[in-house]
Amino acid sequence: MKAFQVIIMAMTGAWVTMGGAVTQAKDVVPGALWPDNHGVHINAHGGGMLVHDGLIYWFGEHKIQGRRGNTAQVGVHCYSSTDLAAWTDRGIALAVSEDPGSDIVKGCVIERPKVIYNAATKKFVMWFHLELRGQGYNAARTGVAVSDTVTGPYRFIHSLRPNAGTWPYDFPEAQKTGPATEEGLKGWTEPWLAAVKAGLFVRRDFKGGQMSRDMTLFVDDDGKAYHFHAAEENLTMHISELSDDYLSFTGKYACIFPAGHNEAPAVFKRKGKYYLLTSGCTGWAPNPARLAVADSIWGPWTALGNPCQGVNPENDLGPEKTFGGQSTYVLPVPGKSDAYIAMFDMWRPRDPIDGRYLWLPIEFTERGPSIRWKTAWNLNLFDQ
Ligand code: DGJ
Repeated sequence: MKAFQVIIMAMTGAWVTMGGAVTQAKDVVPGALWPDNHGVHINAHGGGMLVHDGLIYWFGEHKIQGRRGNTAQVGVHCYSSTDLAAWTDRGIALAVSEDPGSDIVKGCVIERPKVIYNAATKKFVMWFHLELRGQGYNAARTGVAVSDTVTGPYRFIHSLRPNAGTWPYDFPEAQKTGPATEEGLKGWTEPWLAAVKAGLFVRRDFKGGQMSRDMTLFVDDDGKAYHFHAAEENLTMHISELSDDYLSFTGKYACIFPAGHNEAPAVFKRKGKYYLLTSGCTGWAPNPARLAVADSIWGPWTALGNPCQGVNPENDLGPEKTFGGQSTYVLPVPGKSDAYIAMFDMWRPRDPIDGRYLWLPIEFTERGPSIRWKTAWNLNLFDQ
């Protein structure tokens, strides 16, 4: 019997049935407290999912109470589930270091960890947004860690800014030689935006590597993996191809939506088309979500607008604030056909450990994908 024969989402209520008839499906309650097997609210923010050997793994930022919880005091937390409903605490997959010389020393910033499995090397590879301790968000690096087992412990390899000394694969020849500083340009004016669109920051960061803040990973059907990251001062999203072992960059990359100010990327593929869900850049505060579509991962990407509809009655926030959330991952639901769940974080920067999770089904209508507010829903919805 396959573990995913029956999947029942549960965040409240008493039971889940596996592998048999569905007699009752428990509801997802977006924004509610979500207890793990110890009755403790799940602590895996900015998370990502990995489906492996019949289990679903959820990796995310372990937060602590109070403002200090916005820095990494513990590491990356892992949970597992057979049904997306009941989550078992699997401990800390990647721990911060006590060594002041380590890039991941306690007090650094570790955000949006994502784990993928490399079938050829049989290694689990975790990438995450890393900010060095005491440097605010200036380092803008990505970090990579590896493990032989899914739950870890993951061994930190290094952090870097991607694609040093390499131009985007389709970067116009003429743009390789323009100005590489903002001198003489006033921020957020038309000339400044035009200069950003014409590759100002790509040139500035050419030597040291491109910035990498909010990120995600996407593995295509052919096993090729891609690292999406907010680059160029969060102005432009970069798509960087990973090496066959997923541990480094090949140097092939593209810049999409130049000066479009996208972060919080979440990527999925449906019926041969690639979708990219993002937000704008307003710190921890919510803003409107955006969706884009492409026939090739390398583009061209077409903006589809804001896929959200409805209002979250708990906070009166609708599409203009993504119901109070910000995207982190889209999960194709294992065992269900054409079923996708959009996952958002509801940040609580004053008490990050209390951050909530907004999971909503994606509906595919004639007008395109739509994410409608639901106060409660369950996986039976995908069978209708
Ligand atoms: C928005 C990002 O999406 C989060 O991951 C985090 O980096 C905050 N900004 C920090 O303000």
